[in-house]
Amino acid sequence: MQLVNGYELMKYAKENHLVLPAFNTTDYEMTLAIVKAFDKMRLGGYIQISSHNLKLSSPEIIANMTREVMQREDISVPISLHLDHGKSFEDVKRCIDAGFTSVMVDSSQLPFEENVKEVRKAANYAHYFGIPVEAELGGIRGKEDDNVPDSNAKTDPEQVYDFVERTKCDSLAVAIGNVHGLALSPQLDFTLLKKVAKASPVPLVLHGGSGIPFDQVRRAKENNLIKVNYGSDLRKSYIKTFGKAYDLNHNEFALYDVAKQSVQNVIDTATSIITEINVKKQIS
Ligand code: G3H
Ligand code: ZN
Repeated sequence: MQLVNGYELMKYAKENHLVLPAFNTTDYEMTLAIVKAFDKMRLGGYIQISSHNLKLSSPEIIANMTREVMQREDISVPISLHLDHGKSFEDVKRCIDAGFTSVMVDSSQLPFEENVKEVRKAANYAHYFGIPVEAELGGIRGKEDDNVPDSNAKTDPEQVYDFVERTKCDSLAVAIGNVHGLALSPQLDFTLLKKVAKASPVPLVLHGGSGIPFDQVRRAKENNLIKVNYGSDLRKSYIKTFGKAYDLNHNEFALYDVAKQSVQNVIDTATSIITEINVKKQIS
């Protein structure tokens, strides 16, 4: 199967009452593991990469590689390739031009009016090509790649409707006590989530999935949540494999064997996340 358009994937989530995992990739091994995990579980979702991680490769390399992996592995579940935390209009444009099928423009660190302006500009471009846009309102705490946002303001429900209407974004990433990375503990504010969900004309996205207890993700799902992002959990599985191999043998050089094991470990982590957040739901 080809990469699926982001609007199609959102429709699939809605029709099947799913919250879709969005797994962060960086390189070939992560990409292979993520795609295989979705296929194994017979459920669709997002493979995504942030502006920061794209510095190691490029939108073109990632898009070509993902397309090729999808075809070679004969993947038959719907997967979209998403730009995560797109930090500039140029990144959004380049990813869409390279074949990404969904994008996020993250200008949440800017004052409200500037955030609106940046998202609207990206949305105009993305919508021309039929690509949906995720935006963020509020500041999520923790370390997001190389970026540690100054603000930790939670999403203000009073601003939500206005923001979505003016930006024309298709989904909204919320700051409701969720955090990036593994260093801080998330404390989801469900009262706030309810208010935000009520005010938002579009579905919500939860960043910082790693570390959030699964029963809380399932509870959040009842509040028009469509997507949950997982980065650190998968990266930890990947890196741990190499750390263990080195600890066992400081002269380890069988890169193929260790890389293969790391792919398997990431598949295992991703499949257990997929299972937990939708409680073993499978689509035939
Ligand atoms: O955008 C990516 C995510 O929000 C990942 O967060 O590393 O805490 O799972 P996480
Ligand atoms: Zn994030």
